[in-house]
Amino acid sequence: MSERNTGPLWGGRFSSSPAEAFERLNASIPFDVRLAPYDIEGSIAHARMLGETGIVRREESEELVRGLRAVLKEVESGRFSWTLEDEDVHTAVERWLREIVGDVALKLHTGRSRNDQVALDLHLFVRDAAGSIRGALLDAMHALVEVAEAHGGLILPGYTHLQRAQPILLSHHLLAHFRAFERDLERLDAAREAANVSPLGAAALGGTPHPIEPALTAEALGMRPLVNSLDAVSERDFALDLLYACAVLGVHLSRLGEEWVLWTSSEFGFATLDDAYSSGSSIMPQKKNPDAYELMRGKAGRLIGNLNALLVTLKSLPLGYSKDLQEDKEPLFDSVDSVLGVLAVLPEMLRTASFDGNRMQEAAGGFALATELADYLAARGVPFREAHRAVGQLVRRCEEAGISLEDAPDEELAAAHPALADLPRDLLTPEGSVANKKSPGSTSSGSVERQLRRAREFLANQIPD
Ligand code: ARG
Repeated sequence: MSERNTGPLWGGRFSSSPAEAFERLNASIPFDVRLAPYDIEGSIAHARMLGETGIVRREESEELVRGLRAVLKEVESGRFSWTLEDEDVHTAVERWLREIVGDVALKLHTGRSRNDQVALDLHLFVRDAAGSIRGALLDAMHALVEVAEAHGGLILPGYTHLQRAQPILLSHHLLAHFRAFERDLERLDAAREAANVSPLGAAALGGTPHPIEPALTAEALGMRPLVNSLDAVSERDFALDLLYACAVLGVHLSRLGEEWVLWTSSEFGFATLDDAYSSGSSIMPQKKNPDAYELMRGKAGRLIGNLNALLVTLKSLPLGYSKDLQEDKEPLFDSVDSVLGVLAVLPEMLRTASFDGNRMQEAAGGFALATELADYLAARGVPFREAHRAVGQLVRRCEEAGISLEDAPDEELAAAHPALADLPRDLLTPEGSVANKKSPGSTSSGSVERQLRRAREFLANQIPD
């Protein structure tokens, strides 16, 4: 296939071809080939503009557009092929174009450089990827709401220091993750907005003597035009924005994943995954492992790493294109693929899991109700510090007697503090504790009902991509 090549784009100045090892190092085509649809989309906009401004003849512009559409078909059908000599996707597309339309293809690059071209491709990719991740995340958010609705009444302990702290509704817990994802959507939208600028027209870095109209290409691509040509080819902030959005989302997913790893352990026994989302051990027949949640936890590492990788690549880089910028792609692709891979699994995995309400309820009782007693006393005028000490002593006495807080006899309660003598006993239950919460945003069923309504409205107001 290499005989179809006409040598590197920049070959004119050189008397010999690049060394093979250098060619391999230098080439981005093995990974940037996935930008081909964006590259072609950008080239079509550019070719049209060249025609509209009279830089090339109308028929030439039309021929270029026709050819580029044909190349896109090759890409979509999987027939598009490349060699290392193509160096990058831009060259490969141009080579294919030339094979289809002939030498008019050589006019496509007028008023453009690979520097503004690659920046545009990446903008288009980020805009698209942010939209795809948004859609996939919305699926997971729908699943959280559905599970919250289906198992709304279950109570489990909320934890601090991974010690049982206070009873909370499972729906409250799930909606806490929903909130985090709402903020992730805002970050994704910010990345999409940042990406929605067309760098075309910057050419190499300083613009071009040709009477190009960047506003026309930008409009055709549904983007804002560049403001400063040097900035347009130098900046990768939009890619950082998406990497950051993915890293934070990855951290959120890792926290959710970790909880499910705990919940599905025998020690917790709160939940069981559907067989379709768990795997076994090759040696221990009893094992049912939460691999997907572990991967969700594990992928946070590379998501954070990818953000760091690009930050460090960009740090101290002088303005203008440097080949370092070629290193922007793999971390970006990896983060997008990793996040999409996890989000493809999460919604159904959530929907199909089952819960052991008794195990949760049991864990949510006992000493996890101690704060309820302290708050009961404080509401009766006992200074909270004093109430806290009295209940602390009661907890110690129960522990010594080997009984749970709910089973403490009336005399024991009264001995801890006289105001506990008339304690309504149903307060000393997970349900009573949950129902007793009054503050906005709390775990009481009224509050969680309001949160659920809000979440449903939020989802209903999302415009599908
Ligand atoms: N493969 C290059 C990249 O990914 C394309 C831009 C090349 N520009 C250049 N001046 N060598 O960044």
